[in-house]
Amino acid sequence: MTPDARLARLTDGYVVTQLLWVVAELHVADELADGPRTAEELAGKVGADAGNLRRVLRGLAAEEVLEELPGGRFGLTATGELLREGVEGSQRGAVLARGGLYYAAEAGLLDAVRDGGVPFERVHGRTLFEYLDAHPVESARFQGSMAVRAAREAAAVVEAYDFRRFRTLVDVGGGTGVLSREIVRAVPQLSVTLFDRPEVVREAQLPAVAGDFFAEVPAGADAYVLSRVIHDWSDDDAVAILRTVRRAMPDEGTLLLVEAVLPEHAADDPAAVRMDVHMLTLLGGQERTAEEFAALLAAAGFRLHRVLPTGPGSGVNVLVARPE
Ligand SMILES: C[S@@+](CC[C@H](N)C(=O)[O-])C[C@H]1O[C@@H](n2cnc3c(N)ncnc32)[C@H](O)[C@@H]1O
Repeated sequence: MTPDARLARLTDGYVVTQLLWVVAELHVADELADGPRTAEELAGKVGADAGNLRRVLRGLAAEEVLEELPGGRFGLTATGELLREGVEGSQRGAVLARGGLYYAAEAGLLDAVRDGGVPFERVHGRTLFEYLDAHPVESARFQGSMAVRAAREAAAVVEAYDFRRFRTLVDVGGGTGVLSREIVRAVPQLSVTLFDRPEVVREAQLPAVAGDFFAEVPAGADAYVLSRVIHDWSDDDAVAILRTVRRAMPDEGTLLLVEAVLPEHAADDPAAVRMDVHMLTLLGGQERTAEEFAALLAAAGFRLHRVLPTGPGSGVNVLVARPE
């Protein structure tokens, strides 16, 4: 691709995000699961204007998310299949969050880059988690957007790290319990407690404790795992959370952070760098290098022992730390 074509395409990324969002919202991919349909047929099923829907479908055919077939029909490509709800590897939840909640927050990026602060908070006037507390539907979507990523990562974490060495473990900020369930599946004798905000653990089908990890987490477990939690927060907040965990943990306990580790050069891991921008936009958090994690851990009374990569493509590492 020539530089001008590449730049033009990158600039129109905002359109593609919205095209994907529209078809995800309208369940178009689910309607195409049984085979190709015309825009008119789809419009009747999903409640849409046929003319406008056809142009959206053409937009996604240009991106090879859909294929355009004779007779004005559209079908799913292998990429488009991942927009279906509930299929293995489905990214529908991620698309819903990005096209709605995240997309609106990006409008605050320029101001935040100029003057500091968090884009989401500039747009919505409160933090993401405060906003989610007040919007249960968006909150469920946010958790849904994390579920598929979390499932992929959890399988890789359990494959890479042997949890049989522990008797008790707390999954701090464990969300809906995707990692907890994977750990219990691998090591049924391990007693796992899920810890998260009250709205999140209410429906957990695991032993769960509700609370605020800035105040207190369940005490006395052999191990504490924080998966994709520390990246949500600034250094000061991250240290505060880690100190809460340190207070709860016996001196011989183990802390496990499941996180991406930023590469030295952005092009070596674009997905981790994009996630860093998500964190900037949504929460004022950040992805970190191994050295930055070691410094954070030291500030909270831990020593980083090792950084264990998990399987290729999982995007996360297990950072193993112990109290100093
Ligand atoms: C990015 S999610 C990670 C979820 C899960 N561990 C995973 O790997 O997908 C961060 C989690 O932290 C939780 N959280 C945010 N603030 C919290 C607080 N003050 N106390 C406890 N949990 C909190 C959120 O509800 C959310 O489930």
